[in-house]
Amino acid sequence: MSKEIENHSNLNQSANEPFSSVLERHASRRDIMRGGLSLAALGMLGGIGGLSMASASGVQKTPLALAFESIAGSKTDTVVVPKGYTAQVLVPWGTPINDSVGPWSADRVVTPEYQANSVGMHHDAMDFFALSEESASREFVLALNNEYIDQGALWAPQGGPTNQDSGSRPADEVRTEINAHGVTLVKLSKNSDNVWSSDAGSRYNMRITSATPIEIGGPVRGSDYVVTAYSPDGTRTRGTNNNCGHGLTPWGTFLSGEENWPAIFTKTSGRTIDDNRIGIPDGRSRYAWETAAGVADEVDAEFTRFNATPSATSASGDYRNEPRTFGYMVEVDPYGNTASVSTEAAAIKRTYLGRFRHEGAWLGKLTAGQPLAFYSGHDARNEYIYKFVSKANWDPADANRPGEDYDRLAIGAKYLDAGTLYAARFNADGTGEWLPLTPDATTQDGQRLSTALGLADDDLAGVIINTCDAADLMGATPMDRPEWATVDSNSGDVYVALTNNSDRTAEGTAATFSNGGSDLDGLGVAYDTAPTNAANPRANNQAGQIIRWREPSPAATSLHWEIFVFGASANDTDNLSGLTELNQFASPDGLWFDDRGDGQGILWIETDNGYDGVAEQTNDQVLAVVPSALSHERGQASVVGAGNQQQLKRFAVGPNGCEVTGAFTTPDKTALFINIQHPGNWPADPDAATQDATRATDGSVRPRAATVVIQKADGGQIGV
Ligand code: FEO
Ligand code: CA
Ligand code: CA
Repeated sequence: MSKEIENHSNLNQSANEPFSSVLERHASRRDIMRGGLSLAALGMLGGIGGLSMASASGVQKTPLALAFESIAGSKTDTVVVPKGYTAQVLVPWGTPINDSVGPWSADRVVTPEYQANSVGMHHDAMDFFALSEESASREFVLALNNEYIDQGALWAPQGGPTNQDSGSRPADEVRTEINAHGVTLVKLSKNSDNVWSSDAGSRYNMRITSATPIEIGGPVRGSDYVVTAYSPDGTRTRGTNNNCGHGLTPWGTFLSGEENWPAIFTKTSGRTIDDNRIGIPDGRSRYAWETAAGVADEVDAEFTRFNATPSATSASGDYRNEPRTFGYMVEVDPYGNTASVSTEAAAIKRTYLGRFRHEGAWLGKLTAGQPLAFYSGHDARNEYIYKFVSKANWDPADANRPGEDYDRLAIGAKYLDAGTLYAARFNADGTGEWLPLTPDATTQDGQRLSTALGLADDDLAGVIINTCDAADLMGATPMDRPEWATVDSNSGDVYVALTNNSDRTAEGTAATFSNGGSDLDGLGVAYDTAPTNAANPRANNQAGQIIRWREPSPAATSLHWEIFVFGASANDTDNLSGLTELNQFASPDGLWFDDRGDGQGILWIETDNGYDGVAEQTNDQVLAVVPSALSHERGQASVVGAGNQQQLKRFAVGPNGCEVTGAFTTPDKTALFINIQHPGNWPADPDAATQDATRATDGSVRPRAATVVIQKADGGQIGV
């Protein structure tokens, strides 16, 4: 996400049970689990590394081994990969996706039209959508989130944006910035020399921007909460913004997360509790798009809508509710069939998955005849982890049929518009609970949740709008900025990156609260600071950790958790996982479980680090570990510890200034795709659409976020 747009306010904490001797208690629990229980009992307790290596017959399989040497840290304007691997730049920002605009060049002045027809800025999560099973490893539609913008790079030819800090922004600059956000769909393929390129002639290519009409689905659809002058019946909005993490549905659609969107709005009066709880600014917005309002050629309040201050006698006359149409997972059909939404809408917001700074929504273990689970994090300090469980049971007949033209969004409605949303509580004893966010749930204080939120008894839409306050009232555990999740599709183990938290205070300190509140249960009140708890055990946590858990089934309301690995500098006194110069990392962010079959797989970890202890040695990076190959260790604070840390290997390092994000491999495992976001001075050739990502920049270039495809020179499988 980068430091530019992350949420610096602190939006929550939980008044849950006090934390005492967390590490010792957790370590002793691990001793018990690893030393004293039978395999069967351990299996029931959940996500224990190494156990998944035991088959039903008890025969141990040979663990998957990573066949590359951990690479050294790097601080250069280049991508570094292990010996024997290549890395190629693909679809950098501004690459045309059709022939309606001219080619990119480093001195190009980007117009609204150019940006609407080219790859958006700041690549984040992505996934691939095959056109047939047979061709899936050599051609597919790439769906790519464009998280935010680098105004310096965007406006480089004119020396920067106009009136960023005061005065009115020019309308066409605002339109261009709006069009640089959102989602990019572009077809990719490789030639017989394993060189990848985008196809500007593909019918699948499309941009969804912060101006594109999008429908509202789920419980919030048609409610008074989302009535605007644009959509008096509360069924539509325009745009999706700050699209960060993602989700992949088994029916072949892309879920795009709206993460750090609140700051694109301003609201100076008429504020509601959810405006305060989620942090809508009351001053100039991040890019001041609202200041272009009223220009002669403004179309349909395209700029006015970013000012949510009430100006009419009712909601249908202004944009007071525009922020309530953001904060969701947006379902996109990458194959372009949007038959089940209105004619002009390109996608649909699935509101049942909750409203917050929505990092993504990752599918739990998929089992025929059982509900689907999607896991989400709210990426802000001391915010929560959520799970949506579908009402419908999974029917394998709904599985994606690659390349076929049919209405996948109708299948999405079946699974995503009815179910239950939960928030997570992580107990100090390694157990956890999913707390239902339903109107009739009982809060920690014994109230009906709808009543505690000041809502009518049956107001499910109101609960969703106020997801964060609802989770406060239920007693969810405040986390160290939940970033991505990923799920081991065999064991069902869920991994979540908790990237860092500068507002985590020492054990036993009193929590503090936002918006002048004295109690978390106050509506519109969040945590400013929160003391350590078992799942977030380090105060002023600069390096982050990865937590994992296992549940008995997707719909279960119980879980068992443990810390998988703690980020740290090798020299830190709290280097709890025993990291060394060859794998020290901080601020885990992107995660992806790369299933290699036979119950095994590689966990890929990507970083977005701002911690000097690691940044002094290396830029952001990609690491790999095979969780099922990790040996059992006694008394460790995390699964990765001094005795097995060498199995966590650094695979790639990005160029100066970047974060590394986005991850998937082709089905044949011969190509790993990652994204380089907000590089400072890269790629080396500022004009070329494809080039060697490992070539160091000579001099100074206009930087471009880009996808990078990593392959073995011999064409073999990545990592092994
Ligand atoms: Fe956009 Fe939470 O990273
Ligand atoms: Ca991120
Ligand atoms: Ca609250």
